[in-house]
Amino acid sequence: MRVRTRTLTEMKQEARRIPCVTAYDYPTARLADAAGFPLILVGDSLGNVVLGHDSTIAVTLDAMVHHTQAVARGVEHALVVADMPFMTYQASAEDALRNAARLMQEGGAHAVKVEGGESIAITIERMTAAGVPVMGHLGLTPQSVHQLGGFRVQGRSLADAKRLIADALRLQQAGVFAVVLETVPAELSRIVTERLAIPTIGIGAGPHCDGEIQVLHEILGLIEGRPRKHAKTYALLNALIADAFAAYAADVRERRFPTEANSFDLDEGVLEALRAEEDAPGGGDG
Ligand code: KIV
Repeated sequence: MRVRTRTLTEMKQEARRIPCVTAYDYPTARLADAAGFPLILVGDSLGNVVLGHDSTIAVTLDAMVHHTQAVARGVEHALVVADMPFMTYQASAEDALRNAARLMQEGGAHAVKVEGGESIAITIERMTAAGVPVMGHLGLTPQSVHQLGGFRVQGRSLADAKRLIADALRLQQAGVFAVVLETVPAELSRIVTERLAIPTIGIGAGPHCDGEIQVLHEILGLIEGRPRKHAKTYALLNALIADAFAAYAADVRERRFPTEANSFDLDEGVLEALRAEEDAPGGGDG
């Protein structure tokens, strides 16, 4: 059965935790869906973990549509949420509506995610009034990394904590169906989670959120170097892939692969005819 935004609200009401993960392509989307994640996010972390950028700022709407299409093809049950990239919703509500429509109509997303609080609440109101399910994102909002002065914990001072709580309440009022809390102190997430009727989905936000989201490449050991403090490694795919590549290359170099078992037969008659031509005087000249 397809997960709906209201399913997530029900999960919060029933105190059922909401595990979420990112995906950017068809095979991983299929695996995530089969694993039963109720929400799969086509995150603009695509820029970092798939496209090799050092932030999400370079990610374009075309790239998001392209990857959302692949994910949507692989998902039968989960709610597919697509990130709206930098500057596709901040300038005007019209931009936001037009660009959300592309992610939903061309990409196949069921909902979109935008970063920010009060400053984009009116835009979110326009989007939800137009029938676009919107997920919010507060705390460390990576599209504002240069304004925030780097990837740092947010909401630590009293003023910042109060602003984050006010932003969360404002987003709920604007109609978001859930809100991501990224890299904020655990006790602040607890307060926000208690104050909201909609689910909070944490990443680097401690154990008190209604759900958790992680970047697929970080939890599967597909990034270079150590994962961030908030991530946990569930597999070491980089090491597995490196070993597999080395074994394959060595097999080719040492003529262990391909073998007869990986080859296709040529009809005996055709082979004989070819050989006869080769053996004829002047044969094999082309
Ligand atoms: O882009 C992304 O992957 C995200 C998650 C970290 C929530 O926004």
